[in-house]
Amino acid sequence: MARIMDGKKLSGKIKEKVKQDVEALHAYGVDVGLGLMLAGNDPASKEYLKATLAACAKVGIKTFEYSHPETVSVNEIINTVKSINIDERINGLLVLLPLPGRINPRHVVNEIISEKDVDGLGSLSVGKLAADESTFQIFKTGDYDSLYTHDSKSSVPSFLPCTPFGVIRLLEDSTIDIKGKHAVVIGKSLAVGKPLSLMLLAKEATVTVCHKATADLAYFTRQADIICTATGIRGLITADMVKDGAVVVDIGINVLKDGSIVGDVDFDSVSGKASFITPVPGGVGPVTIAILLENTVRSAQNNQSVKHPLVRG
Ligand SMILES: NC(=O)c1ccc[n+]([C@@H]2O[C@H](COP(=O)([O-])OP(=O)(O)OC[C@H]3O[C@@H](n4cnc5c(N)ncnc54)[C@H](OP(=O)(O)O)[C@@H]3O)[C@@H](O)[C@H]2O)c1
Repeated sequence: MARIMDGKKLSGKIKEKVKQDVEALHAYGVDVGLGLMLAGNDPASKEYLKATLAACAKVGIKTFEYSHPETVSVNEIINTVKSINIDERINGLLVLLPLPGRINPRHVVNEIISEKDVDGLGSLSVGKLAADESTFQIFKTGDYDSLYTHDSKSSVPSFLPCTPFGVIRLLEDSTIDIKGKHAVVIGKSLAVGKPLSLMLLAKEATVTVCHKATADLAYFTRQADIICTATGIRGLITADMVKDGAVVVDIGINVLKDGSIVGDVDFDSVSGKASFITPVPGGVGPVTIAILLENTVRSAQNNQSVKHPLVRG
């Protein structure tokens, strides 16, 4: 029976450190602020917003909500982003996706200045990860407490996308070796699959990326030491597609009619074969939020260290 990779526990540890860092900044009279922008009525985004607001309140991060109707124009959205970029109270901005269909999310995310792109989805952040210029590549050993403190003065700061980085942190928290392993990532989105494949590569896994056009998904998953699935297709990964002892990370979120949540993996059958598995809910989701808070407090620390170099310990 697979061991559970406990996202709630890891998220609790990360948030405890964030709380201490927020308190340390408070001692210097500095508040930490996160902006959250929602456009439209996507139910999953609303749930994520609610959970993020609650998590911020627990660690002492102030929140600034910007809600737009489904009919919002691109100009209004861009103006909101621009006002947040220059708002000294706000250290990071999360744009909840999806945006209404008429609005190109890349256009919006790329308007966020990289210092406040705490979701790490802007071209500069993604480009730095792809070009091996992100601090992530430097810290192959998992020394994440000092992750953002090294390059902030020498180059433009950037942040790692929260969900894929959460997957790496979960793997490391369970002391799972990544180096030299065959990792199969299912999904190639800009927010999850693609950056996750880059991170696994930086950790020296052999990486295969599968997507809708992959002809025989099971052919690849059966070879995997580590399977990371992010499709939003309920029951996509079944026990016959998993090698004995594989590590299975389920990033997918599917909200059922009764309101319950399941992932991409047929948990009951796959957990009989895997060595480690993430539950849904309680796996990658809580870690994603914890990393968003961590990135936000790092942004505040970076900002303060530029203005007042003694503030950061
Ligand atoms: N746990 C968390 O914190 C968290 C955070 C973000 C997202 N999520 C969840 O993760 C899932 C993916 O999110 P996303 O933003 O990456 O979604 P997305 O942009 O819709 O991407 C889905 C990806 O899955 C691929 N795909 C779809 N059907 C497939 C199939 N039958 N076989 C193989 N690949 C298939 C797509 O391939 P193509 O590119 O070829 O279309 C695409 O790359 C969703 O369920 C989302 O709710 C969870």
